[in-house]
Amino acid sequence: MGDIAKNETTFYSNAEDYWKEVPPTVDGMLGGYGSISSIDINGSKAFLQKFLGEGEGKTGTSCALDCGAGIGRITKRLLLPLFNTVDLVDVTQEFLDKAKTYLGEESKRVGNYICTGLQEFAPECGRYDIIWIQWVIGHLTDNHLVEFLRRCQKALRPNGLIVIKDNVSYEGVVPDEVDSSICRDLEILHSLANQAGLRIVHEEQQMNFPKEIYQVHTLALR
Ligand SMILES: C[S@@+](CC[C@H](N)C(=O)[O-])C[C@H]1O[C@@H](n2cnc3c(N)ncnc32)[C@H](O)[C@@H]1O
Repeated sequence: MGDIAKNETTFYSNAEDYWKEVPPTVDGMLGGYGSISSIDINGSKAFLQKFLGEGEGKTGTSCALDCGAGIGRITKRLLLPLFNTVDLVDVTQEFLDKAKTYLGEESKRVGNYICTGLQEFAPECGRYDIIWIQWVIGHLTDNHLVEFLRRCQKALRPNGLIVIKDNVSYEGVVPDEVDSSICRDLEILHSLANQAGLRIVHEEQQMNFPKEIYQVHTLALR
């Protein structure tokens, strides 16, 4: 799991302290890479659209959950345009406060703003068509991630999907002392999803990101 995640208390409190100092902007959410937001959102839209729509086996569009939502970058441009209601969960209260204005008029379709760590969050059973988890799993220990994913599975509606979109390392676990997170390789991520009792329905690599950043993969699970 990586040494920095071994002292659980400081792993979480250091991350909370880090995010409290980050400006509530798109650039802040993306560690200075605000310019990749559109490529990211367009890639996500194409990914999601494979599963949405009318008919047998399709994922519904009534309610989505944005996990580690921050100011609602993804909620604004991906989830609110596709789902009737979106809930946001994040550990940083200041980001959720900002979301209320950042999301503008459409914020009236936000169901709940929930300020809590995902490690202790239990989403409402059977509520969500999509649970979107982007650029936040590195803040959870292996055990907490597995347990969180199990709770997410219970929170899905029929044909619902959990989507994880995140950085992956080439090999093993790479710690980031600055924001107190870890980056896992794809094999580890698969194994944790598997331990949570989830099946990988689809997987893609996000293309057209800058060469110097981690590869980003998107996984649909249920
Ligand atoms: C890199 S930002 C990504 C924000 C958003 N997912 C996006 O892509 O625009 C990471 C977010 O995770 C939140 N976060 C960090 N640790 C968390 C935890 N344990 N539980 C919930 N949210 C957490 C931070 O407050 C921050 O908003």
